Amino acid sequence: MSVSGSIYIADNDVKTRDLVSAFLTYKGHAVVCPEQSAPFFDTLRNYEIDIVIAEAAHLHTIAPDFQLRATEINPALVLIAYGDNGTGEARKFNGANVFTLPKPLNLDELESLVLRSREYQTMKKLDSLTGCDDQHVLLSASMIGTSAPMRELFGLITKVAGSNATVLIQGESGTGKELAARAIHQLSARNNKKFIPVNCAAIPDDLLESELFGHVKGSFTGAYANRAGRFEMADKGTLFLDEIGDMKANLQVKLLRVLQNREFEPVGASKSQSVDVRIIAATNKNLEDLVASRDFREDLYYRLSVIPITIPPLRERREDIPLLIHTFLTRFNSDRSPAVKGFSQDALNILCSYDWPGNVRELENLVERLVILKGSGFITPDDLPEKYLSGKQSPPDQIAPRSTASSSDRREAWDQLPEGGICINSAVDEFENRLIMQALARTGGNKKEAALLLNLKRTTLIEKLKKKHLAFAEE
Ligand SMILES: Nc1ncnc2c1ncn2[C@@H]1O[C@H](COP(=O)(O)OP(=O)(O)OP(=O)(O)O)[C@@H](O)[C@H]1O
Ligand SMILES: [Mg+2]
Repeated sequence: MSVSGSIYIADNDVKTRDLVSAFLTYKGHAVVCPEQSAPFFDTLRNYEIDIVIAEAAHLHTIAPDFQLRATEINPALVLIAYGDNGTGEARKFNGANVFTLPKPLNLDELESLVLRSREYQTMKKLDSLTGCDDQHVLLSASMIGTSAPMRELFGLITKVAGSNATVLIQGESGTGKELAARAIHQLSARNNKKFIPVNCAAIPDDLLESELFGHVKGSFTGAYANRAGRFEMADKGTLFLDEIGDMKANLQVKLLRVLQNREFEPVGASKSQSVDVRIIAATNKNLEDLVASRDFREDLYYRLSVIPITIPPLRERREDIPLLIHTFLTRFNSDRSPAVKGFSQDALNILCSYDWPGNVRELENLVERLVILKGSGFITPDDLPEKYLSGKQSPPDQIAPRSTASSSDRREAWDQLPEGGICINSAVDEFENRLIMQALARTGGNKKEAALLLNLKRTTLIEKLKKKHLAFAEE
């Protein structure tokens, strides 16, 4: 990734400043720590700062409209703000380019936010390059996607976050259901309260009721004291009921009651307790099928799916694959020297054609494994495990369709002329588009490097991008 800006550390406390600065410098980041008397905004300008790490209270003393002025100087600037009182003070700053942290600072967490900031900046850069202003990374959860379905999903998540409605997230394993649930919580007004996940499939049936609703002392053997359940813990926050399709019938009834009245009874209690939680449920099972087979209550299904969200499998949004690979590569490379430089075009093509039954999780695990095993240089097809090589290799569906031929027809055209023929001009145009987008993704959006990969002049590449109105996905 070629993001070259420096990090500015602003804190009144010299010790904190020196510690953070030494840590990040040691980790290989360019850090600027000017004299405190140096005019803040001049420093931003002169040192090409693109990340400010600062104590929130200190920022307020610099300028009340700090955020506005700073992003005027650099629109890709990311602010990592921290505060004494948890993240309370820091939360006065908000937006897609703000991260917050409680004090005392956890340096590893801080560095992971710096890396996420870099990912955000690369995305912004790609956006401006391809003329695409739409959000294609949901920063709060580092959810990456450029495809039309993912952009639609990000829009939906952002909208849904503003309400208290119950959400049902469905999708195959590893598609990002939990990530989406966390994003909804983080973008909601409840984000200063807890996000409590419960995996309904992982907790034995006889314990799940007490786990969810708590119990009173003596209500069953082993209940030595009153214990709060996850509903109570999530009060004012969000409760994430994962693998909801595995919940047994008796608990489904109890859950229905909480959804209707926001009231529940701890096991063994004689009085109900009221609670204010936002419920997000998820499953990789088809709940409608479970309703049809009477394994899931229909009334509960309707209560849960006030806002249904379906996350598409990765094979239906292949254009996200190069960026996901790039993001994971950056993440897993972060502590390594030397680092893996990238993927060869052949390797990338193979991965973009693969069907990914384990979805994003499988891709993430593969990139981690390859980075560890390869250690440096470029990953080539020889480095890929056998199962990725056995499938039919065809160039990836990098760009969403422009021609009227179906996506499988177009992919087939790389190997042989489809039955019904093909429009040669649009096929050639599309081939060109794919190569351009892959080159941009591979070089983190650097036009000069992308042009070199394509054996084009930089100006020719820019002209092509303009002429083709290239974006990472069709609307
Ligand atoms: N769009 C995305 N961008 C970046 N990382 C992603 C994305 N989607 C999923 N991941 C990563 O893939 C892994 C699996 O995601 P997650 O646990 O949210 O999936 P899930 O749908 O809940 O899976 P399961 O059904 O197996 O519980 C996580 O490490 C997550 O960070
Ligand atoms: Mg999950």
